[in-house]
Amino acid sequence: MTMKSPRPTLEPMPQPPVKPTIDNMEEEARVTRFMRLAHTYGPIFQLNLPGRQWVITANYELANELCDEKRFLKKHLPFRAVSQIVPTSIFVVSTTEPVWSKAHKIMLPLFSTQAMHAYLPKMWETTMPMILKWERLNPDDEIDVYDDMVRLTSDIIGSCCLDYNFQSFYRETPHPIMQALMRSLEGLLLRERGGPGQKVPGEQEPLQWEADAAYLHQMVDEIIRQHRVNGTGTGNSMLDSLLASNDRQSGEKLTSQELQDQVITLLFAGHVTTSTLLSFALYELIRHPAVLAKAYAEAERVLGDVLARPPTPVQLGQLQYISQILKETLRLHPPVTLLTVQTIKEEETLGGKYRVTADQDLSILVPALHLDPSIWGDNAETFQPDRFLPDAEVKIPANAYKPFGNGVRACLGRAFALQEAPLVLGMLLQHFEFIDHTGYQLKIKERVGPRPEGFKIQIRRRAHAQPVVVAVPASLQATAPAPAPAPTEEKIQVKAHHTPLFVLFGSNLGTAEGLAQRIGDDARDRGFTTAVAPLDGVIDQPRLYHCCCPS
Ligand code: HEM
Repeated sequence: MTMKSPRPTLEPMPQPPVKPTIDNMEEEARVTRFMRLAHTYGPIFQLNLPGRQWVITANYELANELCDEKRFLKKHLPFRAVSQIVPTSIFVVSTTEPVWSKAHKIMLPLFSTQAMHAYLPKMWETTMPMILKWERLNPDDEIDVYDDMVRLTSDIIGSCCLDYNFQSFYRETPHPIMQALMRSLEGLLLRERGGPGQKVPGEQEPLQWEADAAYLHQMVDEIIRQHRVNGTGTGNSMLDSLLASNDRQSGEKLTSQELQDQVITLLFAGHVTTSTLLSFALYELIRHPAVLAKAYAEAERVLGDVLARPPTPVQLGQLQYISQILKETLRLHPPVTLLTVQTIKEEETLGGKYRVTADQDLSILVPALHLDPSIWGDNAETFQPDRFLPDAEVKIPANAYKPFGNGVRACLGRAFALQEAPLVLGMLLQHFEFIDHTGYQLKIKERVGPRPEGFKIQIRRRAHAQPVVVAVPASLQATAPAPAPAPTEEKIQVKAHHTPLFVLFGSNLGTAEGLAQRIGDDARDRGFTTAVAPLDGVIDQPRLYHCCCPS
């Protein structure tokens, strides 16, 4: 790509000297380095890299501007490595490309409330092998927290996305699919971050990532083929939904390449981030005994002392303090540290005095945004879950808290992560005491994302917690207390009167659609003739609104 000559800025932007390797990941995490540069050069600075310019912003005022989707848009990531493995991935393609809007519409329903309810038992079931492993450890055994969280979140996304069990707690090394995924990504990122011609410690042979990527696509393709031929056990995996859905506007389905790329994206995005969140949450809990005590009390009160069945969505919603802990963890340790956009017009003025152009990558350094004292106060660096008490949370200014990204390109899997993380943390708090036997000092390492390097803990089963029962013998089952029956809805049957009812839903995360379907189904049981449709589909058909008014 030929570079346009840099245009003059209204005021020159600070430009730190760039080392040939801008972030040698073996030496210092990229996020740590950028935070250090922001400390030295201020809230905006420009890196001149071979072939491109990269502007990093590090305060609320500038982030707020970059979140304005009328001026800035995500067209690509600062590093292009991922697009070599999954060129049509929703995560990497430009917001302006048709494939993005098609994939976006097809993938939204994967994260509807209804879908979340279907994933919940799978999430619980997939967490149990880790609980069993932890429960069987000797008192002096230690747990590598990040390693186990990666295993767990890989298994959960494998189960919910593909109905495929990676069985990470029953093998020494990660499942070959996950190995190929992470090796190919890390291999490419290492090469790219090292700069052209750079040999970076840990770099793989050039062809290794290609072999890994080819294997990954081949395996995912095979799983998709089997789903097409045999269907799946549950019929409610993300892949089932992807295979069944099309873009309502164009009627188009995902092509075979697009399908593979989105599945690989879900496997990747669905585990690297949540594993980081859970690892840092445990780290913060261990450092804050008073917070930990409150979290224990809440887990006990809401979930009880038995792990024998999955919590209900209502119970998960009652884990208010645990959810505050997770939000505060995402503030101090956002798993995605850079949000990158480009200008829509040829050029823009940023911060009232810096000219930026369409060929520059403009990034929000999220950890810096989350520490801006103008928003979070002088004690921004302290861990205080009460910042997210409901009354306080609503007062956080728009665009000041961005762990899940911005606008139309915000995280699709947010609801998934915010169900998975409280579930796992709740189950761990319900059952285990965490022991910081090494007096761990945080060391952040970054490969694909940041993580607490070398964070190891020991655990004990909590005094009141009952041992996990794997299989209850039939003789015991009769005397075991029956689980509380799930609330059942009485089916109402009335004579059909065929009053037409037309239920319209707005495009959202599939929640509105689920609700509309339920209203439609209920009304049908009550004798109505119902139709359920998206609002977009009837905008130009005012005639249809007639049906909304039962005669
Ligand atoms: C704590 C957990 C998570 C965090 C902090 C997180 C954060 C983010 C962020 C910041 C973005 C926007 C990136 C950008 O603008 O370049 C993003 C995008 C995305 N995330 Fe997540 N994520 C999490 C979990 C998940 C999960 C569990 C899934 C899937 C199961 C997922 C799927 C996606 C997808 C598909 C996108 C691309 C959306 C688009 O570009 O249109 N994420 N995530």
